[in-house]
Amino acid sequence: MGYLGATHAACMAELGFEVIGLDVDQTKIDSLSRGELPFHEPGLPELLRKHVSNGLLRFTTSYEEVGAWADIHFIGVGTPQTPGDNAADLTYVDAATLSLAKHISKDAFIIGKSTVPVGTARRLKHLVASNKKPQVSIGFAWNPEFLREGFAVKDTLHPDRLVVGVDDERTENVLRSIYAAALENDTPFISTDFETAELVKVAANAFLATKISFINAFSEITETVGGDIRTLADAIGHDVRIGRRFLNAGVGFGGGCLPKDIRALQARVGELGLERSMRFLSEVDAINLRRRDRVVYLAEEMIGDFSGKKIAILGVTFKPDSDDVRDSPALDVAIRLFSSGAEVSVFDPQGNVNAAKRFPRLKYVDSTVQAVEDADLVVLLTEWAEFRNLMPQDIQELVAKRKIIDARNVLDVGIWQGSAWQIAALGHKFDSILVSDAEMTMS
Ligand code: UDX
Repeated sequence: MGYLGATHAACMAELGFEVIGLDVDQTKIDSLSRGELPFHEPGLPELLRKHVSNGLLRFTTSYEEVGAWADIHFIGVGTPQTPGDNAADLTYVDAATLSLAKHISKDAFIIGKSTVPVGTARRLKHLVASNKKPQVSIGFAWNPEFLREGFAVKDTLHPDRLVVGVDDERTENVLRSIYAAALENDTPFISTDFETAELVKVAANAFLATKISFINAFSEITETVGGDIRTLADAIGHDVRIGRRFLNAGVGFGGGCLPKDIRALQARVGELGLERSMRFLSEVDAINLRRRDRVVYLAEEMIGDFSGKKIAILGVTFKPDSDDVRDSPALDVAIRLFSSGAEVSVFDPQGNVNAAKRFPRLKYVDSTVQAVEDADLVVLLTEWAEFRNLMPQDIQELVAKRKIIDARNVLDVGIWQGSAWQIAALGHKFDSILVSDAEMTMS
């Protein structure tokens, strides 16, 4: 009942199925049973409450209960990065599959949704076959999930494609009937083998990560020679073969999927003796991480030694409309500024609580106004709507110094310079921004 599982459970109930959500964490199950979602996802709390109260959706910690009751079992447990290693940690997906196999007591299907290294589904299918009760038949499939945080409900109910790795017709037919509503709307249904299904998911995320690092690599050039990274992205994006989406230059990608998926893919191809094939992904990762260094560098250029300086951080989540701070570039930068001696004041519309759990030593406040009070520097790190719409006059009487870094390329540089702010934006040459006309007029 993490992000994927809880979303899938509530959406299956929305489609009219009777659903039990299982998790080993009793606190999570208690909260979901009360209709309370333990994370932020627009539209999902409403679905959860609706189907908990109409009885279609309930929760349990008992494998015995689900094994005796359900016809279809979806596995959506996490496959996080192994600490100290690039590979995916398969402990949870293995444990969940084995527990299901042992407890299923009527004919049923197991459908894996977790993101797994290629080869896992075939191995788990054998694990199920050798651990199931002899009298039951269990169909097996892998059905990767492409939902985005912030759009999880829409992506689940109206996916842009359905991919299933399956090796028997009966299981494929069951999947077709589960997803009948989407299929009636002409959603592409790609039925393939286990390996392709597993690879589709990591290939999609590797491609998206590469696209982001591609534009960010060009940022490194425009930051040196001048030029406008947004115009560059717009111009190449008009070529439909390239497309404009995922070409937003900034502090880079984070979250629970892209970073760990490109690392797990490299680890997996390494095991297969194919490290060369995915070697470029280590460069994609490195470009991404260098964006964070760039923000810290710009901060130092703008305010010098951090000791005793006050820095306001706007946004700590890995992207807007989420409370997720896993591998968040924003939180990483905030911690680095703090660790270098700055007094750091953070405001995020949804992320303060999760960030404080991970790093309680930053000062977390409840509004932009509180964050920027007396600040020597403001750093916009996540492009929440309220930060995108920020205007100099909203905060300029509150700050100690009119200095701002736009690490997401969402502010109008001209407007801020026009109000005598020193503004640095990723993808823009810094010194041309530093000596703004407005600043020269002032002095
Ligand atoms: C991603 C995939 O999009 C989704 O299909 C998959 O199922 C899970 O992983 P998600 O982690 O929710 O979804 O985030 P996404 O919207 O892809 O953004 C990932 C990161 O890339 C964010 O940190 C975001 O800020 C960054 N990003 C995105 C950019 O830096 N520039 C862009 O142009 C787009």
